[in-house]
Amino acid sequence: MPELHVVDHPLVAHKLTQMRRVETPSERFRQLLSETALLLTYEVTRELPLADVRITTPLVESDQPELVEEPVVVSILRAGNGLLDGVLRVIPSARVGHVGLYRDHDTLEAVEYYCKLPPVEGRTVIVVDPMLATGNSAAAALDVVKRDRPAAIRFLCLLAAPEGIEALHAAHPDVAIWTGAVDECLNEVGYIVPGLGDAGDRIFGTT
Ligand code: URA
Repeated sequence: MPELHVVDHPLVAHKLTQMRRVETPSERFRQLLSETALLLTYEVTRELPLADVRITTPLVESDQPELVEEPVVVSILRAGNGLLDGVLRVIPSARVGHVGLYRDHDTLEAVEYYCKLPPVEGRTVIVVDPMLATGNSAAAALDVVKRDRPAAIRFLCLLAAPEGIEALHAAHPDVAIWTGAVDECLNEVGYIVPGLGDAGDRIFGTT
């Protein structure tokens, strides 16, 4: 059964509302995105495996839990980069990969134009993109990451449309999704409604 985790937290809900407001400028949008990414990362990393290691405290020797390994983070260009700052504040030594895709106007297929990944074989990978809309680019990015045989993949987004969740779960049932909210639907041009507009444009101040 594919997993969906909606991060139900008042701070996430509040910050999302500020990001949705059309009058929120890019500078403030980026700050809110970074803060929300930090909160979401706390949740997406909740069940990472721990192993006891022997340490010496100022008082005694003791067995204490430590992460077995830090996950790899993969950003889907370009809007995924807006999440990296917050994600990396929680897991600062994580290695980071990037996957770039564009949609071919004729075939409507996602075409890979950039891929640079650290070693992911056998590791847990967190793939980040603020908006899970149709799910096409997310599914294609997961195909790219899976070529390098990670042990597990988690997908992290700010907002998801029901259509995108269904599509991503159908294409990659083994990938659990974490999102700050599930919105109502997609509009006729593939934007999430009510949504927050084009996340890349809002992060980078483009139109
Ligand atoms: N990508 C965005 O940036 N916004 C949407 O609403 C859908 C896809």
